[in-house]
Amino acid sequence: MSTPLPAPLNVGQPLTALAPMQDVTDLAFMGIIAHYGAPDYFFTEFFRVHAQSRPEKHILRSIDENATGRPVFAQLIGEDLGHLARTAEELLRHNVAGIDLNLGCPAPKVYKKNVGGGLLRDPARIGEILATLRAIVPGLFTVKMRIGFDDTTPFDRVLELVNEHRVDLLSVHGRTVKEMYRSEVHYDSIAHAVARVRCPVLANGNITSARKAASVLTDTRAAGVMIGRHAIRNPWIFRQCRELLSGQPVSRLTLADVHDYIQRLYHATLSPGLPERDHVNKMKKYLNFVGQGVDPTGAFLYDMRRAESELGLFRICDRHLLTDPTREFPLEPYPGVIARPNCETPDAVADGCSLETITA
Ligand SMILES: Cc1cc2nc3c(=O)[nH]c(=O)nc-3n(C[C@H](O)[C@H](O)[C@H](O)COP(=O)(O)O)c2cc1C
Repeated sequence: MSTPLPAPLNVGQPLTALAPMQDVTDLAFMGIIAHYGAPDYFFTEFFRVHAQSRPEKHILRSIDENATGRPVFAQLIGEDLGHLARTAEELLRHNVAGIDLNLGCPAPKVYKKNVGGGLLRDPARIGEILATLRAIVPGLFTVKMRIGFDDTTPFDRVLELVNEHRVDLLSVHGRTVKEMYRSEVHYDSIAHAVARVRCPVLANGNITSARKAASVLTDTRAAGVMIGRHAIRNPWIFRQCRELLSGQPVSRLTLADVHDYIQRLYHATLSPGLPERDHVNKMKKYLNFVGQGVDPTGAFLYDMRRAESELGLFRICDRHLLTDPTREFPLEPYPGVIARPNCETPDAVADGCSLETITA
């Protein structure tokens, strides 16, 4: 008997999940998202698994101290069967909704070790990993994958393995590893996965708004959506999805609401001993996404990148967000406002799955 998925907030409606994001989806950020409208499911950023690894303490906090009221799946990245099993067993002693395997990370540093997206070059190894984890995870075992490495050649074989090893939930980011984060998303490939696998599928990639979620759900017939970067820009997105999908009017937000979000995020992400300047720089990483919805010219982005102190940062926020506080925060990002032009080249984003490098 397979374990049922945790009940969604709106029973009978499509599922929503916050995508795992390294350096983002920690305890503080999950709390902020829950404040503005939780998704049905959370996923931790990946726990690295290798011979010397122990589950990272800061990631464990997002499980052990989770006060969102919503379940958290623990994500693993690795390829060694014994160490994956050891880590999964250890994580199962914590309050996890399930164990999730990363088959998508596109960072060369990662895939060159044949983990994350690198495993998509080796479906036989994926089969061994799925068999190992399925054997020791009595409850929910889930997978998050891209649609291939260079191209979609391995896709069908991996989908067969997902069925063979009774994976309970599959999240599909509709890009290959080589497509990184910026190409079009191949929603037709997500639809293909939905038709092939027996478990529910979460569609992932460029879901910018509740309306986009609804159209992707129609096009792919997925059981739900997983949203990453656009939840950093708009933490109300899960609530808006629930509203739209249940036929309610979608909440409209103002620039004053965005100001409230930034203040809350600033205080939630303070950590003892972190110098003010470093904290301001950390905020800029989130604000790179938020700024895509503040003004169509990117003026807020330009100014906030120059902030050097808390006072300076909030003066900029006050100027851009509280001069006309009732102005609407748009449901979609402004076209052409990108987080960091100098990250447009693949080399600049090649380093890792972290806010340091991914700012599209
Ligand atoms: C900063 C950042 C960190 C990420 N870290 C992870 C991770 O730890 N595990 C994972 O499976 N995917 C990771 N991803 C990929 C996202 O989960 C998601 O698949 C991708 O961003 C596409 O969805 P989106 O367009 O909604 O952002 C990361 C993405 C970003 C932007």
